[in-house]
Amino acid sequence: PLLQPRDNFSSVKLLAESPSLDFIPSSYAYFNAHPHDSVASDPQVSIPVIDFSLLSSNNPDQRLQAIRDLGRACQDWGFFMVVNHGIPESLMNAIIDVTNEFFNLAEEEKMGYETKHVLDPIRYGTSFNTSKEQIFLWRDFLKVFVHPDFHCPRSPRVFSELLEEYAKRTRGVARELLGGISQSLGLEEGYIAKLLDFDSGVQIYVANYYPPCPQPELAMGIAPHSDHGLLTLLLQNGVGGLQIQHNGKWVNVNALPNSFLVNTGDHLEIVSNGKYKSILHRAVVNNKTKRISIAMANGPSFDACVAPASPLLTDSHGNQIPGLYAPMKFREYLERQQGNKLDGKSCLDRVKVSIC
Ligand code: SIN
Ligand code: FE2
Repeated sequence: PLLQPRDNFSSVKLLAESPSLDFIPSSYAYFNAHPHDSVASDPQVSIPVIDFSLLSSNNPDQRLQAIRDLGRACQDWGFFMVVNHGIPESLMNAIIDVTNEFFNLAEEEKMGYETKHVLDPIRYGTSFNTSKEQIFLWRDFLKVFVHPDFHCPRSPRVFSELLEEYAKRTRGVARELLGGISQSLGLEEGYIAKLLDFDSGVQIYVANYYPPCPQPELAMGIAPHSDHGLLTLLLQNGVGGLQIQHNGKWVNVNALPNSFLVNTGDHLEIVSNGKYKSILHRAVVNNKTKRISIAMANGPSFDACVAPASPLLTDSHGNQIPGLYAPMKFREYLERQQGNKLDGKSCLDRVKVSIC
């Protein structure tokens, strides 16, 4: 087998493009290093679908039904597909195309965005955090902080205009979903948004580039993890690979054209005091086509101190319910999560309070 040290390559894209690559370097053989992570996944199951147009409907019955559906999806799955969200298909296609163009830039140009600090506003890299990993992921990434301050790489030239519009539109959808979720918990529509200062919230564009892989049964695109923040809206280039954990099993999910795959994040789990669990998910790779996914992570503001919402700490008889998570500033959580290797829900576990 052709085994080359990973350090010869600044990206998996470059590695995957090396001539006659029939085997992956052993440093990418994730499933050899994690023999207990099962590859097998359930046949497709039907995931909850939220019709966004009903959520923003003027008809109160329709809105109520949509809120109930949202609550059930958050409680039973931590995951749902959103259709009829109103973001133009042309914008969704354009953001995928410009992302592809970014990854097609010369390596030296992309390397200009490699940074040391995980909270730097524009960050290009490979795997997740190569300073902490022994086994690498079959993935290159670009992370850009787009709110409250907007940033964008200088090229491709049209990137900035498209990303600004896409960030604004997806943040609008996330805010509306958050309002419905807030109500599904018995809170006012704007309760969570206000509590966590969503209008100054941190929004991050995370683009994942997964080249075709000669040994997809050994490699991992992105290892099992839950997301920081409240709601992540995922878009992909029509190629599947996302798997979510449901009832203890890995399940393949695919998106209808022009829809978003949405998952609930760690800070929704915290604020709901564990009622809505952040969902474990991962992405596998294939040997036929490159996959691009774009996750828009919508979270609290940097300085919001996130803890369980106080109205949720009293039951219907007025008795106290213990808060299950210790308060922590979002900025600190983000720094901690991004500064380590991806490891399930380990970051969230560290803020869990032990109840004696
Ligand atoms: C992610 O979890 O950030 C990416 C998942 C995917 O590529 O589908
Ligand atoms: Fe994720």
